[in-house]
Amino acid sequence: MTPAPANAIQSSPSLPLMHRIVLLGPPGAGKGTQAKRLAKELGIPHLSTGELLRAAASAGTALGREADGYMRQGRLVPDALVLGILRERLAAADAHRGFILDGYPRNVAQAQSLAEITPVEQVLYFEIPESVLVDRLSQRRNCPTCGTVYNLVTQPPRQSGRCDRDGTPLIQRTDDSEEAVRTRLAVYREATVPLLDLYRTQGLVRTVPAGGSVEEVDARVRAALH
Ligand code: AP5
Repeated sequence: MTPAPANAIQSSPSLPLMHRIVLLGPPGAGKGTQAKRLAKELGIPHLSTGELLRAAASAGTALGREADGYMRQGRLVPDALVLGILRERLAAADAHRGFILDGYPRNVAQAQSLAEITPVEQVLYFEIPESVLVDRLSQRRNCPTCGTVYNLVTQPPRQSGRCDRDGTPLIQRTDDSEEAVRTRLAVYREATVPLLDLYRTQGLVRTVPAGGSVEEVDARVRAALH
């Protein structure tokens, strides 16, 4: 039998397999919004490579500085950089009971790297028309302190421009500019859609219609999990 790689996640026989979940879908589909709710419900971490990379960029680490240039333009950060940061996060104790991966993998090569670290049991594909995405992203605002995500139309803060939780002034992500969003959508079609096809051939994908309210999508996510 081939030995597991040294950095492979140790699985427990009692681990419910459904807890290794990947969320796939275009930018603005609501992956982060639903991942946070689901993580709370299941008691497992929400691992967002976008959030990890943005945190590294804010901290001014060498990796963060390099990643920031790609992110601002809406391009993918090189695979090796993202894999390093993800591998470290997956090795943390709280991820051993399962995880919700949001934003990784994003291409076929990343899926192959992930498979060498840990299996995936379920892929939830957030399906939504592009016209809705552009509207959602242009209205998104984020709290730089606690990470809460708002939408000026669908989930506005109680006090204009400030986070409900800690009062921090909200910001707009640099990659939510019109030009970066166009690039992100093109990158999604080119790099991530083939990955969706790959996971489909493996029988892992469940489609979640991602239009409608946050609560409606939440109910569909729960129904899709088996
Ligand atoms: P990342 O942070 O992963 O961004 P993304 O995939 O583009 O997804 P978003 O965060 O934009 O959208 P979401 O689907 O989470 O939607 P949200 O819930 O916020 O990646 C950013 C960048 O990092 C990449 O471009 C790349 O440069 C780099 N990167 C990350 N991972 C990488 C990787 N693996 N390899 C290489 N590079 C990588 O919702 C959007 C808005 O809609 C919000 O305002 C929200 O309030 C609202 N909303 C959500 N649901 C609903 C609903 N049902 N009804 C109405 N409004 C809703």
